[in-house]
Amino acid sequence: MITTYKAAADIDVITSNFPVPGMGLVPINAFVLHGAEPVLVDTGAVVESGEFMAALRGVIDPGDLRWIWLTHTDFDHIGSLQPLLDDNPQLRVITTFIGVGIMSLAAPLPMDRLYLLNPGQTITVGERTLTAMKPPAFDNPVTTGFYDDRSGALFSSDCFGAMLDAVPERASDLTDDELRSGQIFWATVDSPWLHKTDRALLAREIDAIRAMDPTLILSSHLPAADRATTERLFTSLEAVPSATPFVGPDQAALEQMLSQMTAGS
Ligand SMILES: [Fe+2]
Ligand SMILES: [Fe+2]
Repeated sequence: MITTYKAAADIDVITSNFPVPGMGLVPINAFVLHGAEPVLVDTGAVVESGEFMAALRGVIDPGDLRWIWLTHTDFDHIGSLQPLLDDNPQLRVITTFIGVGIMSLAAPLPMDRLYLLNPGQTITVGERTLTAMKPPAFDNPVTTGFYDDRSGALFSSDCFGAMLDAVPERASDLTDDELRSGQIFWATVDSPWLHKTDRALLAREIDAIRAMDPTLILSSHLPAADRATTERLFTSLEAVPSATPFVGPDQAALEQMLSQMTAGS
């Protein structure tokens, strides 16, 4: 089920909890930034496109949107991209050159509807200036998050996500152990290369976000995290290189699961 809540007066969260059998729930978030030029950050999961559009209509008329910020091209971010572009001719997509290339293999983006932005570059959308950044962890080379100077929020894409048993609307409502273990597990799944990184380099990347001092961190896969919670996010991510690497269930485990399901039916 897709629901919505407010992360700030001018930022709505559109969220769905995706169950991963035996592991927990992954929140899948998109965000609406209200203003003179409204921005939709990502467009939900492919499997939930119809429900996503209904939830979006509950917080804004999709015809009023001016921009889609596509953090990356994974299936949990591009779900309603095509219908939104088809229905609203003024809507443009902020992404990267690689994002356009990957989309061209499935649903090509019209060249005259693009705005290509690289990390470090800025775009002004109405009363907001958005500064593109590459988060410290990601699962797709397209990934570009951003800092919004109006709200002070950092949109971090998959970075700082967590696998959770239950998903509150505020990350601050999670216990230290729920947040830390959920975040570390997610990162070992989503960014397994973190086990091979130079820890000092990773720490410098996280310090760069500390220096931004965001009022909120809005991850695609975590409840909204206020300023009082961000340090917990940083220390969890710093711990990932030494965490146990994720290994998925193999064929023997699958067959055991199937036989249990058959026995139970
Ligand atoms: Fe992703
Ligand atoms: Fe994602």
